[in-house]
Amino acid sequence: MKKFSITIAGGGSTFTPGIILMLLENLDQLPIRQIKLYDNDQARQQQIADACQVIINEKASDIEFLATTNPKEAFTDIDFVMAHIRVGKYAMREKDEKIPLKYGVVGQETCGPGGIAYGMRSIGGVLDLIDYMETYSPDAWMLNYSNPAAIVAEATRVLRPNSKVLNICDMPIAIENLMANILGLQSRKEMTVNYYGLNHFGWWTAIRDQNGVDLMPALRAHVKQHGYAINFDDSGQHVDESWRATFEKVKDVYALDPETLPNTYLKYYFYPQDEVEHSQPDYTRANQVMDGREKFVFSECNRIAKNQTTEGSELEIDEHASYIVDLARAIAFNTQERMLLIVENKGAIENFDPTAMVEVPCIVGSNGPEPIVQGRIPRFQKGLMEQQVAVEKLVVEAWQEGSYQKLWQAITLSRTVPNARIAKQILDDLIEANQGYWPELS
Ligand code: NAD
Ligand code: G6P
Ligand code: MN
Repeated sequence: MKKFSITIAGGGSTFTPGIILMLLENLDQLPIRQIKLYDNDQARQQQIADACQVIINEKASDIEFLATTNPKEAFTDIDFVMAHIRVGKYAMREKDEKIPLKYGVVGQETCGPGGIAYGMRSIGGVLDLIDYMETYSPDAWMLNYSNPAAIVAEATRVLRPNSKVLNICDMPIAIENLMANILGLQSRKEMTVNYYGLNHFGWWTAIRDQNGVDLMPALRAHVKQHGYAINFDDSGQHVDESWRATFEKVKDVYALDPETLPNTYLKYYFYPQDEVEHSQPDYTRANQVMDGREKFVFSECNRIAKNQTTEGSELEIDEHASYIVDLARAIAFNTQERMLLIVENKGAIENFDPTAMVEVPCIVGSNGPEPIVQGRIPRFQKGLMEQQVAVEKLVVEAWQEGSYQKLWQAITLSRTVPNARIAKQILDDLIEANQGYWPELS
């Protein structure tokens, strides 16, 4: 069987070691001959790379491994780019969250003004990755989960329309894992779902088991009382206190439309004041992640590198990231797997902008994704999505044109922001904070 060559872009990410462990666990599914890490922060990536080298030596020493900050070296002779960059790193995530909070507005990684600010930084970084890939390995595919995925996906649609890039999010997968647990199933793969929305902004409309039995009634009964909260074990992603609270809050989000089951991120749009009230303006999610996941991953990696063994290491396989292998396999082996992806609508949601980037189930094969038609959507969701997609499109236009006016409009239009004056104050602070990351606006 063919063996593949993979570049992980954002090699210094906190998720890189878990993803490498996951890839090594799945070599029978996706054989690999080479793994390269690429990052623009040499020192950060090196710490992760030194540990990954030890892991690979122990588990699959025939795989060639290399970490580099040189695009040519990183993107030559590869089949897939797995992209998870965070332009500006946690230092800028912290600002994205804290600046809106100063004005009593949701401070969040991908939603509201914080997500817009992050989008303005990410677009250029992700387009660079696509260009490197197309220059040095024109047949390769990029599997992108760099955030904010909604804005990044719109930018790739407009600015790199013919590129082989697939945009995917792990939130529906994480939620479907919880649903499977609620239902007592072995795996989320026993469920076939219908879903529509934008990234971090969508709804399940049907969930059936392998015999076609409707699983929605059982799920509704649980969600009505507990949201997606279950008795968590404490390993893996999406398990800390903040995520538990998010899964519980789904109960209130669900109440708006008890016919469907919602994505967790809708809470920022339906209950922004609740989120602000529960936030600590001086200690946001970025601080939690820096003190939690980042410290943990880097100290474990440093320990592995120092001891030259993974013995005693607490680093875990990122099980839920196996969707990335499923996606690579779908392209490589034409598996025709059904997966939720962020793709151009083109009628998949019949009564919605055909040029919107929407999240819907797709059949994925060697030629890429074929979206599955989800039909017409109700007025409530349509209204919300039209407003949100306009925000996302305005951000991309603002980035392209260097337009202050359009970015002000985008922030004003976000449901998380109460009025245009506050939008302008937040924007002016964000411009100051993002110098060197955003295009000049006028
Ligand atoms: P992180 O800061 O630990 O890692 C990101 C890495 O990207 C850093 O090492 C940084 O130096 C590097 N980087 C920044 N700009 C770059 C550029 N222009 N070129 C190359 N490398 C660059 O962040 P993290 O928390 O591990 O998350 C990584 C990314 O994955 C984020 O975008 C996050 O939002 C995203 N993510 C997405 C999903 C999803 O569902 N789509 C799930 C989890 C994480
Ligand atoms: C989910 C979302 C991602 C987001 C992440 C944030 O996985 O799908 O898009 O980046 O949560 O998690 P964190 O632990 O960094 O707050
Ligand atoms: Mn996501």
